[in-house]
Amino acid sequence: MGSSGNRKETVWLTGASSGLGLSCARAFVKAGCNVAAGARSFASSEGVEDDAGYHLPLDVTCEESVTSFAKKALALYGPPDILVLCAGILILGPFEEYTLDEIHRVMDTDFYGMVRTVQAVLPLMREKGSGKIICFSSINGLLGIPYQGAYTSAKHAVEGFCESLFMEVRPFGIQVTLIEPGDHRSGSSAYRAHALRASENPAYHPSFDNVIAVIRHDEENGSDPERLGKKVVRLSRRKKMPLRRRIASPDQHLAVFLHRILPGRLFMSVISSYYRTYQK
Ligand SMILES: NC(=O)c1ccc[n+]([C@@H]2O[C@H](COP(=O)([O-])OP(=O)(O)OC[C@H]3O[C@@H](n4cnc5c(N)ncnc54)[C@H](OP(=O)(O)O)[C@@H]3O)[C@@H](O)[C@H]2O)c1
Repeated sequence: MGSSGNRKETVWLTGASSGLGLSCARAFVKAGCNVAAGARSFASSEGVEDDAGYHLPLDVTCEESVTSFAKKALALYGPPDILVLCAGILILGPFEEYTLDEIHRVMDTDFYGMVRTVQAVLPLMREKGSGKIICFSSINGLLGIPYQGAYTSAKHAVEGFCESLFMEVRPFGIQVTLIEPGDHRSGSSAYRAHALRASENPAYHPSFDNVIAVIRHDEENGSDPERLGKKVVRLSRRKKMPLRRRIASPDQHLAVFLHRILPGRLFMSVISSYYRTYQK
């Protein structure tokens, strides 16, 4: 049961088919909410209702798809009390070797996809005079990680977008919060593609391989996605949500803190040596 008396809260959620989005969808369903769960792969299971909610097809890179998702979710459950934006992809590679199309694809999903969905939902929340928007950023929204340049750029855009949005929609009773996860075990490697030309340029060997090995290790030993799902539900229940909520391991919290206090070049050296970008 939701927090609004006997009425079930309605949650619209993007990226619900995998990883942290799936964990959040399950946690909201478990908490008694109606969840309109969107993902591209739900095109083949549209109308199925399971422990992640009611499956609806959604491609956040396509305006018609976002509009159609919004229409169907509205007809099903009414306007959302909570919008959770998890859809995301990551393409690994040296900036020199990314194609612009690859950078565009990451931005289109992780940033513009979020903007498109928020634009579709804001009129409904404004009319209601309330709503909570929960946007998935990342530790990469706060600091750069080598060979995750496209993703880091998109997540930095998400951070700026949410700060501006927070102030604009607050007068309408709408709250905005950023979730900044560190590594979690959940992510599917299907969404961690390598840039087509990632391994072609010998100038970036073995640095690229070292970094990929560290990223893989960190993901495999990451935090529990189920716990994150529960934390997001708890956060959504707060009368006043914070602007930011970092859900990360102690060393990742430390990295963010050091990023804030250390001179830039020194911090870059710390991160570079962690990822072994200099090691030959
Ligand atoms: N996992 C982590 O450690 C971690 C850390 C920091 C931040 N995050 C953030 O948390 C969110 C979830 O990441 P994840 O790694 O847990 O998930 P994931 O397993 O990589 O899954 C990504 C989700 O996004 C959906 N998606 C991708 N492109 C889409 C599109 N064009 N339209 C609609 N949905 C799309 C996928 O579903 P379909 O393919 O079915 O569309 C899938 O449900 C992302 O925003 C990510 O940046 C994750």
